[in-house]
Amino acid sequence: MTPENAPPGVDPTTPNVARMQDYYLGGKDNFEVDREAADAVMKAAPEVPMIAVEGRKFRHRVVRFLVEAGIRQLVDIGTGLPTQGSVHECAHAVAPDTRVAYIDHDPMVIAHAQALLTPDHRTTVIRADLREPCQIVQSEELNRLIDLSEPTAFLLLNVLHFVTDDAIALASVARLRDTLVPGGYLALSHAFSDMRPEATLDVAGIYQGSGAIEAGPRTELRTRAEVTPYLDGLELVEPGLVTLPTWRPEPGESFEDPDRVWVVAGVGRKV
Ligand SMILES: C[S@@+](CC[C@H](N)C(=O)[O-])C[C@H]1O[C@@H](n2cnc3c(N)ncnc32)[C@H](O)[C@@H]1O
Repeated sequence: MTPENAPPGVDPTTPNVARMQDYYLGGKDNFEVDREAADAVMKAAPEVPMIAVEGRKFRHRVVRFLVEAGIRQLVDIGTGLPTQGSVHECAHAVAPDTRVAYIDHDPMVIAHAQALLTPDHRTTVIRADLREPCQIVQSEELNRLIDLSEPTAFLLLNVLHFVTDDAIALASVARLRDTLVPGGYLALSHAFSDMRPEATLDVAGIYQGSGAIEAGPRTELRTRAEVTPYLDGLELVEPGLVTLPTWRPEPGESFEDPDRVWVVAGVGRKV
């Protein structure tokens, strides 16, 4: 994309996390400013594109797990730019009646998702902020599609680390957990610092310094131990909170370098 053909409301002069991720994944929905910031990230941590691919593979596995477990309502918060194998495609491959609400605070993500989705009774796209969970769960658009009195799964994949205020992040996720009825799930993936502390400190600095995310209050990623409380009060599905490739890999599935995947993933079930 070039700045000249930027859709209305899209800022082509500041890096954007969804477009940077698109670049890591080999997509074309990014501007020079995104590529520059992403190149700086990859200089600090060359494994980032590999981790992005592992994230997509995890998303596929976790959606399949949830739908096979009987879940028919998914709320994907921090959707990102659409690519093949998006949440509704994975879900519908297992159970075509699954309803999926896509939520993101980025107008560009919303525009892309709306353009990609054929309007039907099974999907919706809502602009909302994870830091305002009440607005999400009380949203009319959400409640038209998703019956929160029935088991639902919230997906928080690769998004919580962009909420750098711990108190807000913890309170937001607690509100989502409180909304779940028994049989519901919360699935998350979250980058953490203790595997590659120097590289991840640089990466966090690039995201904040470039304006891709708001600066502070936290200037480094959470540690693995600091991610654990986001699943508090839920029954942790086996194998627990583990690095992306080690969460229920499919038979024969291979991954490049599990010791360099500094993103944990886990699923909790409300009992
Ligand atoms: C790296 S992408 C992750 C996309 C997808 N979930 C995945 O795992 O591939 C992060 C997404 O989270 C969104 N995001 C970041 N902070 C958010 C917030 N406070 N509320 C809603 N969405 C947010 C960004 O706009 C971006 O689309």
